[in-house]
Order: sequence, then structure tokens, then C-alpha cells
Amino acid sequence: MADRTTMRTSTALRRSFGVAPELRRGLVATLVLAVIGTGLQIVVPVVLQQVIDSEILGSAAVDTASVTRRGLIALGAVVIAMGARYLSLRRLVVSSASGLAQLRVITFRHLHRLSLLDLQSERRGALVARVTSDIETMQQFMEWGGMGMILGFSQVLLAAVVMLFYSWQLSLVVLAGVVIYTLLIVYFQRVLGRAHDRVRERVSDSLAVTGEAISGLQTVRAYGMEDVVKGRVDETLDRQFSAEVRTAILASSLFSSAELFAGALTAVVIGVGVVFGADWGLSAGALVAFLFLVNLLVDPIQRLVETLDQAQSAGAGLRKILAILDTEVLIKDPVGGVELPEHGIGVRFDRVTFAYPGGPDVLHDVSVDVLPGQRVAVVGETGSGKTTFAKLATRLLVPSSGVVEIGGVQIDQVRFGSLRSTVAFVPQEGFLFDGTIAENVAYGRPGVTDADARRAFDDLGLAVWIDSMPDGVRTNVGERGSNLSAGERQLVAITRAWIADPRLLVLDEATSAVDPALEVQIRRAIEYLTEGRTSVTIAHRLATAEASERVLVFDEGAIVEDGSHAALLALDGVYASLHRDWEGAVTSG
Ligand SMILES: Nc1ncnc2c1ncn2[C@@H]1O[C@H](COP(=O)(O)OP(=O)(O)OP(=O)(O)O)[C@@H](O)[C@H]1O
Ligand SMILES: [Mg+2]
Repeated sequence: MADRTTMRTSTALRRSFGVAPELRRGLVATLVLAVIGTGLQIVVPVVLQQVIDSEILGSAAVDTASVTRRGLIALGAVVIAMGARYLSLRRLVVSSASGLAQLRVITFRHLHRLSLLDLQSERRGALVARVTSDIETMQQFMEWGGMGMILGFSQVLLAAVVMLFYSWQLSLVVLAGVVIYTLLIVYFQRVLGRAHDRVRERVSDSLAVTGEAISGLQTVRAYGMEDVVKGRVDETLDRQFSAEVRTAILASSLFSSAELFAGALTAVVIGVGVVFGADWGLSAGALVAFLFLVNLLVDPIQRLVETLDQAQSAGAGLRKILAILDTEVLIKDPVGGVELPEHGIGVRFDRVTFAYPGGPDVLHDVSVDVLPGQRVAVVGETGSGKTTFAKLATRLLVPSSGVVEIGGVQIDQVRFGSLRSTVAFVPQEGFLFDGTIAENVAYGRPGVTDADARRAFDDLGLAVWIDSMPDGVRTNVGERGSNLSAGERQLVAITRAWIADPRLLVLDEATSAVDPALEVQIRRAIEYLTEGRTSVTIAHRLATAEASERVLVFDEGAIVEDGSHAALLALDGVYASLHRDWEGAVTSG
């Protein structure tokens, strides 16, 4: 089962203790309490045996005082055992919750630091979800399974030892029964596990179908497909329901037969004990004690088998998390990093080649020198490498070979703080966080007030637009900015960059279509924003390219043309043809 190539559980545990020391805090005391909690349970059968053998069946008359004393001892033991178990469980829950919280923070921080190169955004989303569920699994195990396992194992062990002490022959009978019982439970668990898998499949089927039906509601209505969709939804929900019912019936019949078997085992012990007890030197008290011990021994087995499964998935989760922590961070704040100069921030690419992990080269040998203060537009077909170029220029990606320089400094030598205060990147789909417009603008520079944000919109010629929003800068943008249109989101992202006041601006124009009135405002805002700074604007619009002093034309990952708008038109090459397409789109649209 355990893959030889993966980390051993003990190693994984040791490492997780190293990463999140909270996990280990007070663990020894917790274990001691747990063992006391189970050990004391053995007192009851032992006291019972003594009372029966020496008092009830003994030669002398029953000594009430001594029976009472022994009864009180048994009672005390049970109370202390319960207390110890409770305390150990509570301690484990607390330490595992804080330890796993620590692990979660560390893992997410690491995920955050991993560059775009290590993790593509969609994979990152999936990873975040996976880490969350992995830690959830571990937490469930630690809180419910982990202690149960420790208690269960020590209970089985202790009961077995005391049994052996009373009669090894009868112990063998019990052992044979317990082995069969365990195999039975393991088999049941398998059958049930498959049934649960089927239920999970059905649940995700119906989630997918219902989710699609809801998110595609408009299309469904527009094409009059309601009945078809309703039929599909009903059918998947029905299938989920019957899978759930079948599993529930299966579970209850399996567990009843397990209980039946445990009962039968007790009966066998009584029968064998009565018939052979005298030959084996088994006293009546010991036989009664045996019955209790059988119970103590069989009782935790079902839970143990269940938690073994849980333990395996918890271990797998732990290994996956450690693997994430082992992924090296490629984009690091350089030790002894350099501050960028106040002036003269240009960007230079020297024979830069880049490939996404496991993919082909998407930029080939790109060399270009964007001079300080230059307003540059980057154009090219979709997929030609423009966004990749922009990310390399802002150190969101690292070249496979070649060098990127900014302000005359090799970009990986620049201190993060300096890089951030100098360079702003407005991504193609400017990400907005759930909150107000002003809060989103304030991501550009901490400490920005609503009034500052309002003024920034004013500076960019967007006063009319911002005043048309229901609450001005206090308007909530919704999750990922869903209350705003794509063009409006871009306006907020531009204003965010303006507030950051960078000396180098890298802007990836949104590709999505924007209504013409907003289009004009975006263009004007970009012009204000790029005024007097070095800027690299990836242009998807004719006007943006026309307004810049230099145009870089990308084709299949290489810069194929470089010059002014007029010069490139005269050249009648790739740019001229792109330009003709754009003009066609503008006049026909
Ligand atoms: N995260 C990624 N992982 C792997 N390949 C990628 C990734 N992002 C882009 N690519 C590939 O790299 C190439 C360049 O993509 P890039 O996004 O830089 O193009 P683009 O010029 O910005 O296109 P668009 O005009 O559509 O924005 C494409 O072939 C693309 O498929
Ligand atoms: Mg792009």
C-alpha cells in the first residue's frame, strides 16, 4: 500500500513536527494520560474476579467492608480513567488544532511566495483547495481518529495481557475469534468504502449538473431547454439518492452482523470456559473477568480499522503538504539587494528566452532596450508572447536564459521593496478584491483614504464615471469585482497603478470588448497614467498603439518589428497588416 518512493510516515511526522512545533507540544503528557485512561479500565474486571473468587465463592463469609472497599476502588478507577481520557483528548484537540493552524499558515505563505513560474494560476487555485482539504483530513484524523487509535491499541494490548495471565488456553480461543472478527471488519470496510466512493461520485455528478444548470440559466432560457435540463437534474439527483440509500442499508446490515459476531464470540467463551475451565485451572471469577476483557478487546477493533483508513489519508495529506513546502521558491528577495536609482528607469532585455515549465520556448532570444521615459506599445497576434514579455519585465517570471535589466540593474538583484515601489503592473484582467472601489485603489499604496482615491479618479479624468457609481468610491465591487463591467474593472486597476505612482509602468490592456464610451475614458486614463513615465503598454486597441512613440511587434515569441507607428506603417509588414485588421474592425463595428 505504502509507496516505496514516498516519504515514510515516521519521517513525514518528524518533519511536520519540525515545521509546526505546536503539533508536538505536550504530546508526551497527552500520551501518558491516554494510557492511564485505558489502563485503569482493566481494574473493573480484575476487582470483579477477586470479589467473586475470594468473597462470594471463598470459604469464609462475605466480608461486606472488603467488598465495599473493592467496589469503591473500581469506581474510583473508572472515574479517574474517564477524567484522564477526557483530558488527553482535550489536550490533543487543542495542540493539533493550533499545530495544524500553524502548518496551514506556513503552507499558504509558501504557496504565496512560489512564483508564477512554479505554479500557474489555475493550478494555484486547485492547490489552495487541495491544501485546505488535506489539512481538513489531517485535522479530522487528529481529533477523532488519532486519539481513538492510541486508546484502542493500548486497550487491546492490556486486555490481552490480563487474559493471558488468567488462562492462555482460553486466550487462544479469544485470539482466534478476534482474528476472524478483524478480517471480517476489514472486508466490510472495503465493501463500504466502495459504496461511499460511489456516493461521492454521484454527489459530484449532481453538483456539476445543478451548478451548470444554474450558471447557464440564461442560455437555458434563451434556447428553451428548461425541460431537458430539468430532466437531467432530476435524474442525477435520483441516482444520488438511491446510491445513498443503498449505502445506508449496507452499512447498517454490515455493522449488525459485526455485532452479532462479537456476541457469538462471547457465547463461545462462556461455553468453552464452562466446559474446559476446570481443566485449565480457570476460576469462576476469572471466567466472568474474561467476559469483560473480551468486550474490552473487541470493542475498539471496529474503530481501529476505520481509523486506519483515516490515518492513511491523513498521512497522504501530510506528504502532499510537505511536498509543497519542498518546492523551492524561485523568485526570492535577493540577499543584499540593490536599490533602484531615482531616475533613468528603463528596461533592457538581453537575449531572453523563456519557456513555461514543461512547455516549448514561447519567447526566443528577445533583445530590446526601452529607454527611460519612453512610451512603448507592444502589439502582436494572440499567443505571440506579449503578456509573457510583460511578466518578465516585472519579475513575475524568470527567464530561462538571458538577462532582464531595469534601471541599469539586473532585475533579480533588485530589492523587492525597491522593485515594488518603482514598478507597477496592470494585468490583463486586473484583479479586484471584494470590497469598495477605494479599498481596491488603496492596494496601490497603503494608507490611501477615500478622499485620496476620489482625487485619483479626478486626476485621471474619471470624475464623471466615479460619480455615476451608486456609492462613488465606496461602491462595493463584489467578489472579484463582479459588480463592475470588464472596462470598469480596468479603470479601477489603472487608478490603482496611478496611486502607486510608479516610475515604470507595465500595462496589459484588457482584451475583452468594452463599450465605446468607456473605451474613450480608458484610453484617456492610460494616457494620463503613462505621461512622463517609462511605460510598456500591451495594446489590443488601435488608438493605444497610435498614441505611443514606439511600437514593438511580437510574432511567435520574437520581436519582428520595432519603430514608430508611422515608420512601421510605411514598412508594410506585420504591423501594417495588424493595423489594417484593426481599422477594418473599427469602421465595421
Ligand atoms: N501559464 C502558462 N502556461 C503555459 N503556457 C502558457 C502560459 N501562459 C501562456 N502560455 C503560452 O505562451 C504563449 C504566449 O502567451 P502570452 O499570454 O504571452 O500571449 P499574448 O501575446 O499575451 O496573448 P493575448 O493577446 O491573447 O493576451 C502562448 O503560446 C501561450 O499558450
Ligand atoms: Mg496577453
